[in-house]
Amino acid sequence: MTASVTTITITGAGGQIGYALLFRIAAGDMLGADRPVRLRLLEVRPGIRSAEGAALELQDGAFELLHDVEVTEDPAVAFDGCNIALLVGARPRGPGMERRDLLAANAGIFGPQGAAIAAHAADDVRAVVVGNPANTNALIAAASAPGVPPERFSALTRLDHNRAAAQLAATLDAPVGVVRDVAIWGNHSATQFPDISHATVAGTPALRALEERFGGADAAARWVDDEFIPRVAGRGAEIIEVRGSSSVASAANAAITHVRDDVLGTSEARGWTSAAVVSHGEYGVPAGLFSSFPVTSDGSGYRIVEGLTIDDRARARIDASTAELVEERDAVHALGAL
Ligand code: NAD
Ligand code: LMR
Repeated sequence: MTASVTTITITGAGGQIGYALLFRIAAGDMLGADRPVRLRLLEVRPGIRSAEGAALELQDGAFELLHDVEVTEDPAVAFDGCNIALLVGARPRGPGMERRDLLAANAGIFGPQGAAIAAHAADDVRAVVVGNPANTNALIAAASAPGVPPERFSALTRLDHNRAAAQLAATLDAPVGVVRDVAIWGNHSATQFPDISHATVAGTPALRALEERFGGADAAARWVDDEFIPRVAGRGAEIIEVRGSSSVASAANAAITHVRDDVLGTSEARGWTSAAVVSHGEYGVPAGLFSSFPVTSDGSGYRIVEGLTIDDRARARIDASTAELVEERDAVHALGAL
C-alpha cells in the first residue's frame, strides 16, 4: 500500500533556516522513511529567487519521498491542504536587538498566515512557529485562525531544550543521550527558565551529579544560577555574536525533531521534551498564553506534563518569563494584532 502524501508548508523557505530544513525533510528525517511529502514554499518577493533555487536543488536531490515542490508568494496557495506548517519566515534578530523589538514587524506576518491556515489548510493541520518572537507569533497566528483549535499551534523551544541538555551533559562529561527530563519554561527569550530540577543523567538526579562534580550543594546551585541558566538563555545571542547571524542548522534540527516528536510521539525511554504550547492555566501561566512547558506526545499533539513540584526559586523564574509573555501579548494587542 502507498502511504498518502503529507503536505508541508514552509514559510521563509528561501532563508537560512529554510535551506537547512528542506533537504532533511525531503530525506525523511522529519516524518520517517515511509512518508512521502509535498513541499509548499512560501516567500515574499525578495526571497522568491532563493526559494526557487532551493526547489531546483531539491529536484536535483532526486529524493524518493519528495512528491512535488511548489514555490509561491500567495499564502492561500501555500497553505492549501497543508497538514504541517513550519512558520519560519520572519525578520531575524541582529546584534544588540532583543526579540521583542521584532514584535511590530512580525505581527503583520503571523496574523494573515493564521487566517490563511484557517481558510485553506487540512482539518488535521499542525503549525509550529520558528520565527521570532516565536511564542507571541504563535499566539497571533492561533488567534487569527478561527475554527482551528489553539492546541494545533506551537512555538519552538526545542532548541533551548537541546542547548540545556547539551550543557548539562558537557559539564558532567556524559553523553547527551543519557540526559532526561530537562525542561524549558516560559518565553523563547533571555527570560526563559531552563530547569534541571527534575532531570536525570544516566539515571542519577542531575542535581546530585552536579553536587558530586562541584563538591557540594552550594557550589552546584551556584553553577546552575550563575553559569548554566545564563548560558542556555543567552545562547541565541552568543551564536549571533560569534557567527554574525542567528542560529541556523541547530534551529532547523530542533524544528525537525519538534515536529517528529509531536506527530510520531515522544518515548518513555527518552523522557519529555519542551515546546511552547497554549496554556489552560497550567502551573499558574495565564490561559491563552503560548508558554514553554515540559511536554510529551502520543502522536496526537503535545500535552503538558502535569503534577511537577515547583519550588520558590523556580516559581519566581517562571513568573518572570510569564510576565514578559504578558507584556508581549499586551503590546501586540495595542498594535491591533489580537
Ligand atoms: P532569514 O532572514 O535567513 O530568512 C527569513 C526568510 O523569511 C527570508 O527569506 C524572508 O524573505 C522570508 N520572509 C519574510 N517575511 C515573510 C513572509 N511574510 N512570508 C514568507 N516569508 C517571509 O532568517 P532565518 O535565519 O531563516 O531565521 C528565520 C526566523 O527564525 C527568525 O525570526 C529567527 O529569529 C528565528 N529563529 C528562531 C529560533 C527558535 O529557536 N525559535 C532559532 C533560530 C532562529
Ligand atoms: C536562537 O535562539 O538562536 C534564535 O532564536 C535567535 C535569537 O534571536 O536568539
